[in-house]
Amino acid sequence: MKRSTFFHFATFGVQTILFKKKAPILGTVIITDKCNLHCKHCSVNNITAIVHPYEQIRREMQQLYDMGIRILFLCGGETFLWRDGNRTLRDLVIEAKAMGFLIVNVVTNGTYPLDLPEADLILLSLDGDKQRHNEIRGDTYDIIMENISHASADNICLYMAINQINKDCVRDVCLTARDTKHVRAVSFNFHTPYPDTKDLALSREEKAACCDVIAQMMKEGAPVFNLKSAFPYLIDNRFPTPCHQCVVLENGKLSTCGRCIDVPGLCSQCGYFFVAEYTLLFSGKPKIIFEMLYTYLKYV
Ligand SMILES: C[S@@+](CC[C@H](N)C(=O)[O-])C[C@H]1O[C@@H](n2cnc3c(N)ncnc32)[C@H](O)[C@@H]1O
Ligand code: SF4
Ligand code: SF4
Repeated sequence: MKRSTFFHFATFGVQTILFKKKAPILGTVIITDKCNLHCKHCSVNNITAIVHPYEQIRREMQQLYDMGIRILFLCGGETFLWRDGNRTLRDLVIEAKAMGFLIVNVVTNGTYPLDLPEADLILLSLDGDKQRHNEIRGDTYDIIMENISHASADNICLYMAINQINKDCVRDVCLTARDTKHVRAVSFNFHTPYPDTKDLALSREEKAACCDVIAQMMKEGAPVFNLKSAFPYLIDNRFPTPCHQCVVLENGKLSTCGRCIDVPGLCSQCGYFFVAEYTLLFSGKPKIIFEMLYTYLKYV
C-alpha cells in the first residue's frame, strides 16, 4: 500500500472514530446480476440478468467517488460477463483507478480467464475442496484452478462463504491459499441466511468451530485476510449493523451496507466478516484497529 493511501485511510478512520461520523469509505457497484452459475447458497443471481451499460457504470463509479469513497468493489452476478462493445471488466478497473480510487477490487467466480493485473485484489470464490465446492457451485473447481494457474498477476484472494455443505473444508481452503501460485490470501464469510437459503445457516457452535480452525491455521502461517479479534463478535452476531461506512449501488439504487438491507431481520444474522470488521474498527476497538493495520499492510 502506498504511503499516501495509508494516510488517507488513517485520517478517515481517526475522524470517523473521534467524531462518530457516518460517511462511507467503501463502495460496491453491481455491474450486472447476470451469472453463468446458480450456486446453492446464492439469492442474487439472474434476477434481471441485465448487463448495465458502460456509461451507467462510469456514472455510478463517479457518484461513489464524489461521496468520498476510495475503496471500490466491482461485484455481480458474474463480473467477467460484463461487456459493452469492445469494453471489458479490465477497462472498468483501469477507469476506476484513473478516476482516483485508491483500492479497486473485483469479486468473481473464477470460471473465466483472470487477466486483471490492475486490480488490487481479485476476490475469487472457492467454496471448499473439489467435492464440496462442486456440490455448491456445479462442476467448476478444475477450471477455476486452471484459470488461477494462468492468472496474469499475484493479486488473487480466495473468498469462501462457509455454510452447512462446506463447513468442514475451512482447512482445505486455507492450505489451497497457502500453496497455490498467484494466490495471496483467503478471506471468509459465514452464510447469511436469506429466506430461500435458511437451511444452509450455521449454528453458534458451528461458527465457533470454524473460527477455531481459522485461528489455528493463522497460527500455522496460513495467509488469512480476516481479523481474529472480530471472531467472538461474529460467532455471537454481536457486532453493530448495518455498516454505515459501506454502500452498494445497483442500477441507480444506493443502499447502506448491502443490497440485503431490505431483507427483514437479516442484519441480525449477518455473516459478512467485513461488516463485523469495519463496524468494530469504526467503533474504536483498539485490538481491531491494530490487527486491521497489520493485516491490510500485509495483504493489500
Ligand atoms: C454474489 S457473489 C458475486 C460475485 C461472483 N459471482 C462470485 O461468486 O464470487 C459474491 C460473493 O457472495 C457470496 N455469497 C452469495 N450468497 C451468500 C450468502 N447468502 N451469504 C454469504 N455469502 C454469500 C458468494 O459466495 C461470493 O463469494
Ligand atoms: S457465481 Fe456468484 S453470483 Fe453466480 S450464483 Fe454463484 S455466488 Fe451467485
Ligand atoms: S449487515 Fe445487513 S445489510 Fe449489511 S451485509 Fe449484513 S445483512 Fe446485509
